[in-house]
Amino acid sequence: MTTAADRWVRFGLKPLVYAAGAGPFLYVAAGIAGVDGVNLGANPVEEILDILGIWGLYFLLATLAVTPLRQATGWVPLMRLRRPLGLAAFFCVLGHFLFYLVVDRALELDTIGEDIVKRPFITVGFAALLILVPLALTSTQGAMRRLGRRWQSLHRMVYVAAFLGCLHYAWQVKADLREPLLYLAILAFLLGWRWVRHQRRLKHVAPAAFERLG
Ligand code: HEM
Repeated sequence: MTTAADRWVRFGLKPLVYAAGAGPFLYVAAGIAGVDGVNLGANPVEEILDILGIWGLYFLLATLAVTPLRQATGWVPLMRLRRPLGLAAFFCVLGHFLFYLVVDRALELDTIGEDIVKRPFITVGFAALLILVPLALTSTQGAMRRLGRRWQSLHRMVYVAAFLGCLHYAWQVKADLREPLLYLAILAFLLGWRWVRHQRRLKHVAPAAFERLG
């Protein structure tokens, strides 16, 4: 049975998250079209790369915050936001990568290959993108059913992708590390939350299982 809260998430919050996912692209498009009040600065190529990269990271962290938020509030319909947030993260990062490939590097494959191999911050970003591809492809209900328990193991890799995304950001910042460190701290908190919950569950489930055996 669907409740009012469920309908609110499904028909209110979920479309809002999809719209938010389109936001960075619309902003960039408005900047390129020269819309009044949207300024891409003196170096628009770098600015566009930065906008798509930072929003990719925001959406990635927001995706990871959904489960802890559901556990803290007990509000199960929130889980419906996980997929739209994850897809928003994936498309921002993909846009960031494609913009780098086509505009920043003008599709010069040897320079791109050299960047990926020789510039550690790019190697790490590229690894994060490669992790996100199978996660986006298996984000449907059908894939979830087909993969069963393996789905969860696969999707835990999103933590690795987020860590590599933070590292990639920290690595290319020249002076002020405060912002990337803040995102790393948020990621550590979200991981720590999961770890504590897991330990608590083990403490309760293991003795109960022994009791049943006895
Ligand atoms: C999960 C994957 C990724 C995330 C979360 C991510 C995120 C970011 C962030 C947050 C920034 C800095 C933005 C700022 O200064 O405000 C950035 C910069 C950059 N990223 Fe990524 N990125 C990812 C993957 C990639 C990939 C695959 C490439 C290319 C192969 C790439 C190339 C770059 C470049 C060249 C910059 C520097 C732009 C500049 O000069 O300011 N990134 N990225």
